[in-house]
Amino acid sequence: MTLTTQVDKPLQGKHIVLGLSGGVACYKSAMLCRGLIKAGATVQVVMTESACQFISPVTMQALSNRQVFISQWDNAIPNNMAHINLSREADAIVIAPCSADLMAKLAQGHANDLLSLMCVARPAQKVPLLVAPAMNREMWEHPAVQRNARQLEQDGAIVLGVGQGDQACGETGDGRMLEPDELLHDIQKALTPPILKGQRWLITAGPTFEAIDPVRGITNRSSGKMGYSIAAAAQMAGAEVVLVSGPVALACPRHVQTIAIESAQDLLNACLPIAAGFDVFVACAAVADWRVANASDQKIKKEAGKALPSLEFTENPDILASVAQLEQAQNGQLFCVGFAAESENLQEHASAKRLRKKIPLLVGNIGPATFGKDENALLLIDDQGLEQLPLASKTQLAIQLIDAIQKRRNH
Ligand code: CTP
Repeated sequence: MTLTTQVDKPLQGKHIVLGLSGGVACYKSAMLCRGLIKAGATVQVVMTESACQFISPVTMQALSNRQVFISQWDNAIPNNMAHINLSREADAIVIAPCSADLMAKLAQGHANDLLSLMCVARPAQKVPLLVAPAMNREMWEHPAVQRNARQLEQDGAIVLGVGQGDQACGETGDGRMLEPDELLHDIQKALTPPILKGQRWLITAGPTFEAIDPVRGITNRSSGKMGYSIAAAAQMAGAEVVLVSGPVALACPRHVQTIAIESAQDLLNACLPIAAGFDVFVACAAVADWRVANASDQKIKKEAGKALPSLEFTENPDILASVAQLEQAQNGQLFCVGFAAESENLQEHASAKRLRKKIPLLVGNIGPATFGKDENALLLIDDQGLEQLPLASKTQLAIQLIDAIQKRRNH
């Protein structure tokens, strides 16, 4: 199984039944509906009567471009069996928001309105049920609600968890519905073949920062986008991912343990002690080759008549080469992937780099053409030769690269 077919629009061809129960968080469901459609899905909205108190079915109909179903007695359906038809068409049923009351009903198997009835009627082996709870923090902590959440999981539902922060009631704590982007990620994950399940991936990303003094330093133009995309895609495909990142302006990928570092030495200290516990190491970080040997503890001051500062450099450790040596000690259990950011002669430099670093796969790209951009083109080099991944978004390339790594690991 590969992930590559999902490249263009991640939810293309998927039909999502989006259920809304009563809660202020219904306002986020409108954004979620749009996000699902932008990701390529078709969306069928089903609402409870209570949900209609919070958001109009007209809004949801306009966004989904489909009739919204509310009642099991709706005679617009020829066979009058909306609960059967809707649940059979779905690739997934997502209830967002799911109120405390609906959680209780689902945990008990009640079926006295269309949404609960449809959930009980769903073919459980084929159609995953995702539940996004939304309620006040005291309600969320109530033993009955927690008991119902556990019961739903035991019955095979995916309970997506809750967000933390300010609530509509004025209180602060756990119980907010997850944000539309977070829900989209979790829905996409539930529908992604878990080809990396059971694997642990260690990924480095972003630039390093080498201090000159406490306020200045030397860095480079890496944005971290490629490494972050690989981390997100690997997590989505079921891997447990640790991302070690230099300073970037990107949000931590969802469900990825992210370790922030600054210098090349920090990167080595973060990776080397843990690398042996992983299956795949992807060195995507743009690591400074040198650091300032005579870095100052205090800010270097500019004074009239004083000589210009003179920087001396010393070589940084090579993290990829160090981990690859460790890998040899691991008898090839850890599959190491390097990146090469070149400005010219890509194939020649990248091939030499693969041999020098003693790694099975090296991914070449033209650094100045891609730093900071959302697109890239990659050249994969292994002992069999070359493979081109033409210009595409970094999200798409990350998915293609994961398939390429899997293929070589399974070889
Ligand atoms: N790398 C590393 N530690 C370093 C330098 C590089 O782990 N000190 C890794 C990068 O993360 C990348 C690969 O090695 O995966 C190649 O990095 P690159 O900077 O292109 O190569 P260098 O070995 O530094 O060679 P040069 O700068 O001369 O091209």
